[in-house]
Amino acid sequence: MADGLPTEIDLSRPSAARVYDYFLGGAHNFEIDRQLAEQIAGMTPNLAATMRAGRVFLRRAVRALLDAGIDQFLDIGSGIPTVGNVHEVAQAANPKARVVYVDIDPVAVAHSRELLAGNDLTGVIHADLRQPEAILGASRAMGLLDLDRPVGILLAGVVHFVPDADRPADVLATLRAAAAPGSFLVVSHSTFEDQPQEMLDAQRLSARTATEITLRSRAEITGFFGDWTILEPGVVHMPLWRPDSPSDVDAHPERFGAFGGVARYDQPAG
Ligand SMILES: C[S@@+](CC[C@H](N)C(=O)[O-])C[C@H]1O[C@@H](n2cnc3c(N)ncnc32)[C@H](O)[C@@H]1O
Repeated sequence: MADGLPTEIDLSRPSAARVYDYFLGGAHNFEIDRQLAEQIAGMTPNLAATMRAGRVFLRRAVRALLDAGIDQFLDIGSGIPTVGNVHEVAQAANPKARVVYVDIDPVAVAHSRELLAGNDLTGVIHADLRQPEAILGASRAMGLLDLDRPVGILLAGVVHFVPDADRPADVLATLRAAAAPGSFLVVSHSTFEDQPQEMLDAQRLSARTATEITLRSRAEITGFFGDWTILEPGVVHMPLWRPDSPSDVDAHPERFGAFGGVARYDQPAG
């Protein structure tokens, strides 16, 4: 566990992880989380669909990384375990795949530890994305991931919890700098681009959770990949990222309110 993070469950405010769990049909949430979730859902029915679309995007991205030979994953902002967790997708394709989950939320961490007990190729770290050095240090100390080899860094639905004041671009740069050539970075991130006012209002309600959301433009989100090579089809509305079949693509993919993309660290020439 990284230093200084509260380990107590705060029941006085909704938690982003628990609200998300409720939207995904999970059981690890409390009345205060359900109230906020229902309020948000009443304002925009799209939000629950957005969260499910985020999960589907993550699964497709993980499969793409597995196809590219990635066998170790650092999943930051992993959330409360739910159907189709990264280690399930990864280990179904490669039983030797290793996954380290990181989350700031004590409920997410506790349930992840419970779920993963007995799975020696997975680990859980209680840490804050805003302290990437602590995450990298704890991950090295755990001995599960070998950062001298290519790794898949997963930041699904989490960077928007880092306000500009906490310098998310620097956080991302620190994580990229720790990765070996051949590594991949997956980011999905809420946006204000192409969004109706009701969606923007609902996102503003996130200010009531312990972690507020900062919506960003496609250009800002693209910047999080630094000089890594962004894979086709680029940073796009999540359902447009390599859909399994054309019928998976909604007539209005922008209604999901978030961009997703994947990039690879190609060794600089010379
Ligand atoms: C919307 S959920 C996404 C869960 C999962 N990655 C997915 O895509 O299905 C966001 C998660 O990020 C976590 N989170 C928020 N701020 C964080 C931070 N600063 N450091 C680490 N985790 C954070 C929340 O606790 C929550 O579990």
